[in-house]
Amino acid sequence: MCYKKRLIGYLLGSLFIAIQSPTTVFGAEEKPVGQDPVSYYRDIRPVLQENCQGCHQPAKRGGGYVMTNYDQLVQGGESQEKAVVAGNPSISSLVAQILVTDGKAAMPKDADPLTEDQIALITRWIEEGADDDTPESAKPKFDMDHPPVYHAPPVITSVDFSSDGKYLAVSGYHEVVLHHADGSGLYARLVGLSERIESAVFSPDSSFLAVTGGSPGRMGELQVWNVEKKELILAQTFGYDTIYGACWSKDGQVVGFGCPDTTVRAISIPTGEQVFFNGAHNNWVLDVVFSVESDHLISVSRDRSMKLYKLDTQRFIDNITSITPGALKGGLHSVDRHPSKDELLSGGADGTPKIYRMIRDKARKIGDDFNLIRAFPAMPGRVFSVAFSADGNRIVAGSSYNTTGEVRIYNYADAKELVKIAVPESSIYAVGFSPDGKTIAAAGYDGYVRLIQAADGTVLKKFPPVEIEDQTVATNR
Ligand code: HEC
Repeated sequence: MCYKKRLIGYLLGSLFIAIQSPTTVFGAEEKPVGQDPVSYYRDIRPVLQENCQGCHQPAKRGGGYVMTNYDQLVQGGESQEKAVVAGNPSISSLVAQILVTDGKAAMPKDADPLTEDQIALITRWIEEGADDDTPESAKPKFDMDHPPVYHAPPVITSVDFSSDGKYLAVSGYHEVVLHHADGSGLYARLVGLSERIESAVFSPDSSFLAVTGGSPGRMGELQVWNVEKKELILAQTFGYDTIYGACWSKDGQVVGFGCPDTTVRAISIPTGEQVFFNGAHNNWVLDVVFSVESDHLISVSRDRSMKLYKLDTQRFIDNITSITPGALKGGLHSVDRHPSKDELLSGGADGTPKIYRMIRDKARKIGDDFNLIRAFPAMPGRVFSVAFSADGNRIVAGSSYNTTGEVRIYNYADAKELVKIAVPESSIYAVGFSPDGKTIAAAGYDGYVRLIQAADGTVLKKFPPVEIEDQTVATNR
């Protein structure tokens, strides 16, 4: 039976029981939902994805065990014990690992055990024959040893230079590609589970790369890679859709990001624990940044607002943007912070990059936009990406109007436009300064990285971040 039918049947069923006898709604008489055979793809995979795959995937094989691919999931890891014996949960080592004694289970390692229902479901799935009903389109195809093959350049949503000046991280399909910062060639391809990459951002000391993204309709994922070792050190999934906008605390210990479920979250990288969670927005949260001291988080959303939170208390503090009805025009896509001041640069659907002060120092009045310090001359279309130079003296913004793009560099202090680069062939979704402020990377829909001389807008180099096999077939779009 299809899922929807089941759901409706279930709801009608509970309603019927409720009418008959309200006290037994959740009692023993209610028919359990799962009398249909357990589906691997629908019932089991999401549980394993959320609780196990962060440590058991091609890029990170805890115990030599990969659980993202059905054959390997069944096979087991270095213990040589078969993890799943179809029809026989009692001799399946996977079941042995998740069973709870004295409130503890061997797996998931260093976390709470699975719930009784989850364990029962996995056990029943194995009892019923442990079939794999994953649709062909959802089977994992790529890993570090089998990187994606491109027939067209991938739409680029993120570019970031490392602060040591060595690398440029560019989002790809199913991977982040690290180029030498001068555009002289490829350094590494970091292939993870997420199909779509939304942002890839270096840690302050350049040793790690935080990646947000996911697989649409299936999962959101945060990945953290060790840049020198080209190794995945942390992977965690959040919800069922892609997540956005990674940012690092100044000590490189915490990564914040935004979610389509309207929440802002932050994870401690050494422990993997969630240290911040707040749902003050009412639409997708598209970008997040820390304050100078990393004691606050700032987020922007499709709901048009920029919001401020305290990290340690996880509390919402204030709307940085105006609260006057109708004052905000269109969703905000991107936020960056001045390198040494708590002043925030935003870009969004109204095409006007703006600077806000983080903390208001006067009582709020309806009608004011008190925190606004300055607005830059408007760009055509929507601004998708904004960034400061490392010295804080200039900003860069990238925009998209229909299918054309533009990059502009402005003087921070007086909002003067310094350089304008028209990109008629492609929307621009991502921009960033090199640490010495001399070069700008800009990229977007057409999948080409442009390295631009910041002083005069000359395009120094233009290249696809990946090798293209056959230009005549377009995919990944
Ligand atoms: C935080 C990382 C982490 C998480 C999360 C995790 N594992 Fe593990 N798992 C490991 C490591 C590391 C090993 C190797 C043995 C050890 O260190 O305990 C392992 C070993 C195993 C093994 C034995 C493999 C073999 O044949 O040697 C199984 C089975 C297993 N895990 C299942 C699971 C399941 C099921 C989940 C989710 C419910 C899970 N693990 C979650 C890290 C993890």
